[in-house]
Amino acid sequence: MSEQIIVGVDGSRGALAAALWAADDAARRGCDLQIVYVEEPLVYGGRAYERSADDPARKQGERLLQEAAARAAESRSDVHVSTELLYGDTTEILRAQAGEAAAIVVGSRGLGGFAGLLLGSVGLGLAGHVMGPVVVVRGAPTMVQGEIVAGLNPDDAVHPAIDYAFEEAQARGARLRVVHAWDLPSSRLGAGFGLDPDIIAQAQQAHVHGVLEPWLKRHPGVAVSESVYRGNPIAALCEASARADLVVVGSRGRGVIRSAVLGSVSHGVLHYATCPVAVVRPRVRAD
Ligand SMILES: Nc1ncnc2c1ncn2[C@@H]1O[C@H](COP(=O)(O)OP(=O)(O)O)[C@@H](O)[C@H]1O
Ligand SMILES: [Mg+2]
Repeated sequence: MSEQIIVGVDGSRGALAAALWAADDAARRGCDLQIVYVEEPLVYGGRAYERSADDPARKQGERLLQEAAARAAESRSDVHVSTELLYGDTTEILRAQAGEAAAIVVGSRGLGGFAGLLLGSVGLGLAGHVMGPVVVVRGAPTMVQGEIVAGLNPDDAVHPAIDYAFEEAQARGARLRVVHAWDLPSSRLGAGFGLDPDIIAQAQQAHVHGVLEPWLKRHPGVAVSESVYRGNPIAALCEASARADLVVVGSRGRGVIRSAVLGSVSHGVLHYATCPVAVVRPRVRAD
């Protein structure tokens, strides 16, 4: 059986955009697509009420799965699509499903929540909490830009986002822009700080290039540019997202690869990037 890409749907436009993104990605990677809808128990006064078998809401779940599957198959007829209706807490169920998948994909928003929110609870509950890529799709599919953006901190111990970004760029025939932003601690900006920012900038550029070298050798067909800025990484990545098809970031920096906590850069990019975002947590064994 091929590897699976999983997408969560809830009948919203955001989820449909996620399903189309996932179908496209599955086609490019030769994966199967599994579309999942989770029906949440109705909990009132601390008690969960099961829906009866003839509750129209049950049929609704089946219907929205069929609709998403039809739209996915229509856009990519070369992908094997299956659907699954599960019962429980959406984030918990999707986390469990993600374990075996090549990637899990959701919309930035769904049906519920407060109108002004930029990111729903499902994306936030998955990104950084499951191993491998979590893709959060924002907005409807737009014109193809032909560019993937990846955020890199060359001082991190591992670079799962760079692996995924090269795979995506290669599969799409897209350019890859690797972005690194650095800055001096603000408390040292005053007089008396002995290091020249221009010299640091050159050293950072060389460091980024050195870290990327194994990937450049492995993927000679991918056109890579290295953008090293002095400034804030969230701002640099979100600005680059305006001209990208996908922004890829790691879930968390150095030394905490086993902890299921989202780093501040990934958190910021998930909220403010204007294109789909992949947050990639390294796959480590649980021992
Ligand atoms: N019940 C569900 N089953 C499967 N996927 C879901 C479900 N609810 C939400 N999702 C996924 O999560 C995305 C974001 O939804 P959510 O976090 O619930 O945002 P909101 O608060 O706007 O409803 C949806 O676009 C969809 O991809
Ligand atoms: Mg919701």
